[in-house]
Amino acid sequence: MPSETSDGSMIRFEHVHKAYDGAPRGAGAGAGAPRAAVEDISFSVRPGELLVVVGPSGCGKSTMLRMANRLVEPTSGRILVDGVDVLAADPVRLRRSIGYVIQEVGLFPHLTVGQNVGTVPRLLRWDRARTAERVDELLGLVGLDPGRYARRYPHQLSGGERQRVGVARALAVRPPVLLMDEPFGAVDPVGRRRLQDEFLKLHRELGTTVMLVTHDVDEAIRMADRVLVLSRGAKVEQLAPPLEVVARPATPAVADLVGTGRAARLLGVGHLGRRDLVAVGPEDRDAPRVDLAADLGSVLAALVPAARGRVVLTEGGTEVGAADAAALVRALRRLTDGGVDHVAAGGRVGTLPA
Ligand SMILES: Nc1ncnc2c1ncn2[C@@H]1O[C@H](COP(=O)(O)OP(=O)(O)O)[C@@H](O)[C@H]1O
Ligand SMILES: [Mg+2]
Repeated sequence: MPSETSDGSMIRFEHVHKAYDGAPRGAGAGAGAPRAAVEDISFSVRPGELLVVVGPSGCGKSTMLRMANRLVEPTSGRILVDGVDVLAADPVRLRRSIGYVIQEVGLFPHLTVGQNVGTVPRLLRWDRARTAERVDELLGLVGLDPGRYARRYPHQLSGGERQRVGVARALAVRPPVLLMDEPFGAVDPVGRRRLQDEFLKLHRELGTTVMLVTHDVDEAIRMADRVLVLSRGAKVEQLAPPLEVVARPATPAVADLVGTGRAARLLGVGHLGRRDLVAVGPEDRDAPRVDLAADLGSVLAALVPAARGRVVLTEGGTEVGAADAAALVRALRRLTDGGVDHVAAGGRVGTLPA
């Protein structure tokens, strides 16, 4: 039942409100009236987009995902997934179109890895051969050798391996939409970074629309095409590409969230612009080469050991200018200060227009 209000978005929340029955837990301590978990939220996720929802614990993130997945029903408002109202959707169709990954992974302990990954295909009555083939393919996709892992049980895996199995299971029937609730939360920082990188690669390959929830602002900045910053009651503080969120926090709540270590965070998402560069001179002959598209952190990493304190920036192999520490500072200033009041919406934004 495609909706006539569909705007080409893959996930769409329209004035969604959720008050749990009874006295809401965690309702504003001493703030008077009990508050809804989600007060009134509207936003869209574009096809293929990786939207990261970030906000403090208890602000309603999990409730939003559960409503999109129909584990919880909104009190009012509407959620469309691929143009279909989830409350009106056929449950089998919904299960096909949405993959769901949660922090605790939720693997069935008494089933093998292969059986866990094959859960939804089995529910959908795929035949054995097709399911087995798909399970092997998926385990390969998430970096687990099927020969080694398919017959193991969840307790025989590390946290990171269990997480990979959770992702493989969610992707089993190629859902166009993937919902991820703090998916890497239970993994140590090093493993977590690796899982983030692997997942980004997987996302680029599959083109699945992803809504990922986290309370970790660095994870949000690192992974998102756009970041949706929420405060209590799932109030939208900002919806923008990571660079814009870091460089131009829209509200005091966003500023608080990204404030600590903002300059360092900008290194990860900002880029040099041509206007930050100086002319390449004869002294730059042996300077390190860095792609203009590299983030500022990579430029800094190349600058530190550079004998003359300069690097040469290239674009498609052609030298476009040189940069020193002052150029890096110019870029950081440009990103945070002067005259930047508009950023093109959508996609990863590298260099803010002046
Ligand atoms: N099943 C429930 N019954 C009652 N209140 C709930 C339930 N689940 C969550 N809440 C409350 O709703 C609010 C939002 O919770 P949640 O969506 O889990 O937040 P987050 O995932 O951002 O930490 C919190 O105040 C929480 O205590
Ligand atoms: Mg949660």
